[in-house]
This record gives sequence, C-alpha cells and structure tokens, in this order.
Amino acid sequence: MKVLFVCLGNICRSPTAQGVFEKLLADEWPDAGIEVDSAGTHAYHKGEPPDRRAQRAAAERDIDLSSQRARPVTDEDFLIYDYIVAMDRDNYAVLESRKPEEFAGRLCLFMEFAPDLGREDVPDPYYGGLNGFEHVLDLVTDAAKGLLRHIKSTR
Ligand code: 4NP
Repeated sequence: MKVLFVCLGNICRSPTAQGVFEKLLADEWPDAGIEVDSAGTHAYHKGEPPDRRAQRAAAERDIDLSSQRARPVTDEDFLIYDYIVAMDRDNYAVLESRKPEEFAGRLCLFMEFAPDLGREDVPDPYYGGLNGFEHVLDLVTDAAKGLLRHIKSTR
C-alpha cells in the first residue's frame, strides 16, 4: 500500500502530512507495510528541504521533516500510488486533470478524513506567520488519524 500526499510546493503542507502520517504509523501500526511520500503540483522548490517554519513546528511535536526533499508529482506516481491525497481543492483539480485512464488508485482531499472539522482545504501557510504552521499541524494530525482508520477499515 502506497500513499502520496500532494500540495503546491512540497515544502510546507505535504511534507508535514508525510511526517505526521509516518509517525502515526510508526506508533500505531509499524507492520502495516504502508509506504508514504509527498510531492508538489509545481516544481518551484524541487530538491529543497521543507520550509524551516514547517520543520520547527513539526520538531516541537517530535516529528522530524529534515531528511525530506521536495519533488514534483510525476506521471509515474499515478501508476504506483494507491492513495493520492491532495491538501486543497486547487491541487486536487490539477491532479484530477493529470490523472491517466489507467489510474487504479483513489484521488482524494485530505480533509475528507476529518469530516467533523467541516472543511475541505488545508490552507497554504507559506505567506503567513508561524501560527499558520501550527494550524496546518492540527488539521493534518486529525486527518492523518482519519486516513489511518479508513485504511484499517478497508483491510
Ligand atoms: P506548500 O506551500 O504548497 O504547502 O508547500 C507553498 C510553498 C511554496 C509556495 C506556495 C505554497 N510558493 O509559492 O513558492
């Protein structure tokens, strides 16, 4: 089982989602055999580590993002991932338009897995302050738990 988290730049939201989900798996279901990665719909930041603010906010919650490097979504991703999880509706629309006919996985919005929060998007924190990154972590933590419950329920 392979899960890909996708945002715009792959330096703020989707690396945070990857780190949070990997930690949740390590803590709760280490033998699940779920592989996790993240990517961006744009390549502006290709090769860069996550934004320092994202790294710092995650580190305060014992989540290490430092080894991640940004990469753009590739055509091959649609052939190998079971779940492609978009951080917001804009990125979902880009992925939907790139999705090949052979895509056999599920394309979804991350916030679908936290329905109690009643929102569709993880907001882009890039141009805001530090509390935007805290907010991303809060949303992503709830949605990661929901995604894990969902995957467990399908096994
Ligand atoms: P992300 O945030 O999509 O959560 O990684 C952004 C990162 C960079 C830019 C926009 C959003 N940018 O315009 O460079």
